[in-house]
Amino acid sequence: MSGPRGVFASEGPEPLPITIRLETPGDEPGVRRVHVAAFPGPEEAAIVDAIRQLAPAGWQSIVAVDRMGDIVGHVLLSPCPVEDGHGERVGEVLALGPIGVLPAVQFRGVGSALVTSALSLAIARGVPAIVLLGQPAYYPRFGFISARSCGLQPPADAWPDAAWMARLLPARRDELRGRVRYPEAFEPLA
Ligand SMILES: CC(C)(COP(=O)(O)OP(=O)(O)OC[C@H]1O[C@@H](n2cnc3c(N)ncnc32)[C@H](O)[C@@H]1OP(=O)(O)O)[C@@H](O)C(=O)NCCC(=O)NCCS
Repeated sequence: MSGPRGVFASEGPEPLPITIRLETPGDEPGVRRVHVAAFPGPEEAAIVDAIRQLAPAGWQSIVAVDRMGDIVGHVLLSPCPVEDGHGERVGEVLALGPIGVLPAVQFRGVGSALVTSALSLAIARGVPAIVLLGQPAYYPRFGFISARSCGLQPPADAWPDAAWMARLLPARRDELRGRVRYPEAFEPLA
């Protein structure tokens, strides 16, 4: 089709038509396939398996499914207590990650749809904040800012400021300050 350039010219790859939904039984191999393809090693897929097995209260597993019904993206949300300086629990946040999209369909909006769905779910459930260790260039577009600047310390002091991020949600209270404890399943990444 011809047309004035700059008006009809595409800015990038077409968004992929997808459905976002919660994981259901039978999705496990598809979720594993996504993370094994998206990441260099098997650690991220193993974390998802471990959290699924533990099934801690409040965990969420969200998949992106294409028109064929195949899983093309996945994000995990894991509950993490926040402890004050005395080790007292002052609240709980959700850790976002791993998040992965099949390499063949990256940069087509799947990751963004997963992150925004995770935020919506957390808001609906009254979660005060989502935290993550991730690419500093990707998450600020969703409202993530420095987690330390919000008073949330990472599980390990070595986690870099730029990558340790938080998205504060409407249910956030001022008392929510302290160290975020990740589930043991994340230790391979610590
Ligand atoms: C990161 C990831 C989940 C993003 O999903 P996606 O579907 O490719 O991303 P989207 O299409 O929704 O968003 C595309 C935008 O994000 C940016 N982006 C994608 N991956 C990025 C990355 N790793 N770092 C910085 N920006 C990134 C793109 O440049 C693009 O920006 P633009 O909208 O300004 O052009 C996906 O690329 C992926 O699985 N990567 C490999 C695994 C990984 O690194 N996971 C995240 C660890 S923090």
